[in-house]
Amino acid sequence: MTGNAERYAAITGWGRYLPERVLTNADLETLVDTNNEWIVSRTGIRERRIAAPDETTATMATAAARAALEIANLTPSDLDLIIVATASPDHFFPSTACIVQHQLGITNIPAFDLGAACSGFVYALGTAAQFVRTGMYRRVLVIGAETLSRFVDYTDRRTAILFGDGAGAVVLEATDQPRGVLSLTLHADGAGGPLLAIPGLGAAQPASPEVLEARGQFIHMEGGEVFKFAVRAMGDAAVKAVELAGMQFADVDLLVPHQANLRIIDAAAKRLDLPRERVWVNIDRYGNTSAASIPISLCEAQEQGLLPDGANVLLVAFGGGLTWAASMVRWGR
Ligand code: ACO
Repeated sequence: MTGNAERYAAITGWGRYLPERVLTNADLETLVDTNNEWIVSRTGIRERRIAAPDETTATMATAAARAALEIANLTPSDLDLIIVATASPDHFFPSTACIVQHQLGITNIPAFDLGAACSGFVYALGTAAQFVRTGMYRRVLVIGAETLSRFVDYTDRRTAILFGDGAGAVVLEATDQPRGVLSLTLHADGAGGPLLAIPGLGAAQPASPEVLEARGQFIHMEGGEVFKFAVRAMGDAAVKAVELAGMQFADVDLLVPHQANLRIIDAAAKRLDLPRERVWVNIDRYGNTSAASIPISLCEAQEQGLLPDGANVLLVAFGGGLTWAASMVRWGR
C-alpha cells in the first residue's frame, strides 16, 4: 500500500494501560535459575508489569481505549469499528473486541480480534487504515493488548524473563491531510510457526492431562532462531516501509520498534543507520508486551515530546506466525 492523496487515516488519540504490579529481575531470581546481569545484558529488560487477578486483556484494552478516546475528544458512540490485536485473548470467543465494545457501553458497531502475535498492532493499524481510506468507516479504535503472564511458564528461564502485560490504543480518523498511515508492509511465513507458539489449548491439541503435563498451555520458543529471524525481518520490513512512503532513512524522526530484545532493536537501528536518540526503547521497564508494545511506546514517546506534529514515525514489528510488518506514520491530525 502506498500513500493515497485523497483520504488518510490520522492518529488523533492514543492511550495506554499498564498494571501496577512490577516483576523485577530480582523477583525472577527467586523463581528460576537466572540473574539480573544475564537478563539485562542479553535482553535489556529490568522489570515488567503483571496483571492483577481481576484484570484481563479486555479490561486493560478498555482502559487504554478510554484514554485514547479522551485525547481524540470523542465518546465511544462516535466509533465505527473496534479492532483488538492480541495473542492472549480473554477467550477464544467471544472476541476480546466484543468484550471491549460492551465495556465501553456501546452496541451495534463491528468489533473483531486480529491475531498476528507481536506484529498484531501494525497488522491491525493497517487493516483499520484500509477501512478509513476506502471510505467505509471514519473512526476506528485500534488496540494492542496482552496478558501474556497467564501463558508464561514461570519454571522456564528461557521465556519467563521476557514477557509482560499491558495495553495501548489509538484512534484513527479520516482526513484529507497526509497524516497517519503513509505506508504499510505486511509479511508472514507459516513454516516458522513452531519456533514461537502456544502449542496446546487450541483445536490441534485440546486441553487434556497430557497437554498440561507437557506444559502445552504455555509459550514455547526457540529463542536463537527467533532472534536471527527478527533481526533480518525488522530490517527488511523497515526498509520497505520507508521506500513505499517515498522517503529516506534520514526522514525518519523516530523508529518505534516492537520491544522484544534490546539487542534486536540495536541491530535493526544499526542496519537503518539511525542514531540511538531516534530509536524508541522502553523494554527495560515493560519487557515484551507483544501487540501492546508499539501503542504503549507511541503514548510514552508523545508524552516525552518526541512526536511533534508532522513527525515521521517508523513502526516495525515481528512475532509468532511467523509474522513481520512495518508502517510509516506521520504524526498529527
Ligand atoms: N538466565 C540465565 N541463563 C539463561 C537464561 C536465563 N534467563 N536463559 C537462557 N540461559 C542460558 C541458556 O541455557 C544457555 O546456556 P548454555 O549455553 O549452557 O546452554 C545460555 O544462557 C545462552 O542461551 P541462548 O538461548 O543462546 O541465549 P541468547 O543470547 O540467544 O538469548 C533470548 C536468549 C534472550 C531468548 C534471545 O534468544 C531472544 O531474545 N530471542 C528472541 C526472542 C523474541 O524476540 N521472541 C519474540 C516473542 S514475540 C511473540 O510473538 C509472542
